[in-house]
Amino acid sequence: TTPRTFRIAAIPADGVGKEVVAAGRAVLDALAEHSRGSEGAFAFAWEEFPWGCEFYERTGKMIDDDGLDRLKDFDAIYFGAVGWPTVPDHISLWGLRLKICQSFDQWANVRPVHFLPGITSPLRKADDSELDWVVVRENSEGEYAGLGGRNLSGRGPGGEVAVQSALFTEVGCERIIRFAFELARTRARRKVSSVTKSNAQQYGMVLWDDVFQRVAADYPDVETESVLVDAMSAKFVLRAEDLSVVVASNLNADILSDLGSALAGSLGLAASANLNPERRFPSMFEPVHGSAPDIAGQGLANPIGAVGSAALMLDHFGLPDQADRLRKAIEATTAAGILTRDVGGTATTEDVTKALIDALNG
Ligand code: NAI
Ligand code: MG
Repeated sequence: TTPRTFRIAAIPADGVGKEVVAAGRAVLDALAEHSRGSEGAFAFAWEEFPWGCEFYERTGKMIDDDGLDRLKDFDAIYFGAVGWPTVPDHISLWGLRLKICQSFDQWANVRPVHFLPGITSPLRKADDSELDWVVVRENSEGEYAGLGGRNLSGRGPGGEVAVQSALFTEVGCERIIRFAFELARTRARRKVSSVTKSNAQQYGMVLWDDVFQRVAADYPDVETESVLVDAMSAKFVLRAEDLSVVVASNLNADILSDLGSALAGSLGLAASANLNPERRFPSMFEPVHGSAPDIAGQGLANPIGAVGSAALMLDHFGLPDQADRLRKAIEATTAAGILTRDVGGTATTEDVTKALIDALNG
């Protein structure tokens, strides 16, 4: 039988993005190799794109003019991280990652956080039952809508005025909140925590709160709470066991998910999916972390966030058993103490990648 083939666009981009995407590809190819000859055989056909800050320095562009067109027929995009000290961050992030997310209407950003065996959380009193949640981030509007302008006063240096507005639509709020409730129904703890700052931001965030209450009425089987973002950041640390699905606007969820992954042990462990749930466009899978210029090119990057993101991609392809095999390989590797420096070990990116592949074979 011919294997089912998934066409994947790899965009390693910058810094450790290159190292962790290479690791993720090797692990996925090993998984596919295992399926060869079996009933549900599958394979990956990769195409790699050179976009990122080096491409920008050569061409003045973060992505080719026809780049989005070339990406749109892939089954998924596997992304590393974008950003390098040679290019201002707002140019690199907007020019590549946000451009893909927004053009392909990847409006739901799903970021699970849980403990792995063998890794000590900064929350030392916690045990593995106490941290297992998913941050659902509104990924198409809110604070990252790109609305505003600079130099509005026309007064020049010293007198500049800039406005950065947030955009909240009822449709945008409703679809992400509904998504969070549907996700909660698939989890052991059926609970959705909504996060805003509606006491201080009285228009957009109050609209969000209203929509949350309205949608919640359709899910009487799901527990709910509304928490302000400052209080929620404290709750992440102090009452982690009380959370299951956390839904928040673009900026708030961005901040909370970095906090969450740090609590789980390291930013290098955290996985993320940028979903277009209607499947009109390819979805994009990437680790939560950035390009980590401080450790790039030294074999220190933890590949687990990128490999966990590959597991989310397999879920998206309707291969939950294969996704579980990857997650089990991750757990076997951390449990065996094969850890990169960020989580207290001495293993290299390559050592961990090899251990993951060995765990798949074992
Ligand atoms: P960062 O996530 O790159 O690094 C923060 C800290 O976490 C650093 O100490 C780094 O060494 C560590 N770290 C990150 N990934 C790691 C991994 N895989 N293994 C071990 N340690 C890891 O965030 P930072 O330094 O704020 O940003 C660096 C660049 O990345 C900037 O240009 C920024 O704009 C960009 N960035 C890109 C993102 C994306 O493409 N999705 C997300 C966040 C930042
Ligand atoms: Mg972030």
